[in-house]
Amino acid sequence: MTEKLEDIAQAMVAPGKGILAADESTATIKKRFDSIGAASTEDLRRDYREMLFRSTDAMKNYVSGVILYDETIRQKAKDGTTLVEIMKAAGAIPGIKVDTGAKPLAGPTSKIETVTEGLDGLRERLAEYYDLGARFAKWRAVITIADGLPSWGCIKANAHALARYAALCQEANIVPIVEPEVLMDGAHAGHDIDECYRVTEWTLRTVFRELYDARVSLEGMVLKPNMVIAGQKSAHQSSPEEVAEKTIRCLKSTVPSAVPGIAFLSGGQSDELATKHLSLMNAAGNLPWALTFSYGRALQAAALKAWGGKSENVAAGQRAFAHRARMNSLAALGKWDDKLEQAA
Ligand code: 13P
Repeated sequence: MTEKLEDIAQAMVAPGKGILAADESTATIKKRFDSIGAASTEDLRRDYREMLFRSTDAMKNYVSGVILYDETIRQKAKDGTTLVEIMKAAGAIPGIKVDTGAKPLAGPTSKIETVTEGLDGLRERLAEYYDLGARFAKWRAVITIADGLPSWGCIKANAHALARYAALCQEANIVPIVEPEVLMDGAHAGHDIDECYRVTEWTLRTVFRELYDARVSLEGMVLKPNMVIAGQKSAHQSSPEEVAEKTIRCLKSTVPSAVPGIAFLSGGQSDELATKHLSLMNAAGNLPWALTFSYGRALQAAALKAWGGKSENVAAGQRAFAHRARMNSLAALGKWDDKLEQAA
């Protein structure tokens, strides 16, 4: 029997659980491996992801699903078990990144703005990923704040592509993670928290209008947005309380309550801040949707460093991963605090 989209979406944002974004493309994982001085070979990428997925307690208790890259969904562990089987045995739902990347948007802003590609042949690819075990998918659109940007054309093109992707996913019985990311990096001086608020609100309103036009069922999707936060280079950084308050305000005014859950990206925030912001929002309470994490860097950075590309460090890497996963699980319940962080 096929599972219902709504049930899968609910399971993805179950209380105290969140999503591990382990879908780095080959180019991105190479950058991560470069940072620890490890060579990005197919086997080592497999070993690294196997280490995470075999962190059985962390996966069982804190991780609802894992976003995979095309290579990983087809990979087998050293003992011949597929990585998909390993995560399923730990109770996590396999997911798959299906966009083919953010490419320069044609026109005068092509040096800065992008549109995410990957719609061609997507129906066929989704059918194959379903057979490989994927029950949800991810598509990331990128919106850049710069002088006079984003352009309306960029927001519209990306929102339209997200909606077409989401409709194709639901047709294939796969829950779409709809990810419009307003980037927090960039050197634009006016990129403070209020500018991020303005652009995030504009983006989300446009995305939900496109989702409606494409007849996407809101009950069968998960939203993956950025938090409302100042640009990394802005001279005006905001307190964690202000980030939490403005993020909730922006989401409440743009995201219908029919959406079962919102799972944030970490976007370059430090591990601890990504956790703290999420916890503050959940502690505030009175939210119409589940609010959790779908972190890549903020869930993996410590594990990657502790592992360092060496098999003798697998246990240390798993300990680091389990700690971050537990901290974020507490944050998804609004129960994280500094003392628990330090007690580890
Ligand atoms: P970060 O949490 O590192 O931003 O990654 C999440 C993700 O999946 C980006 O698409």
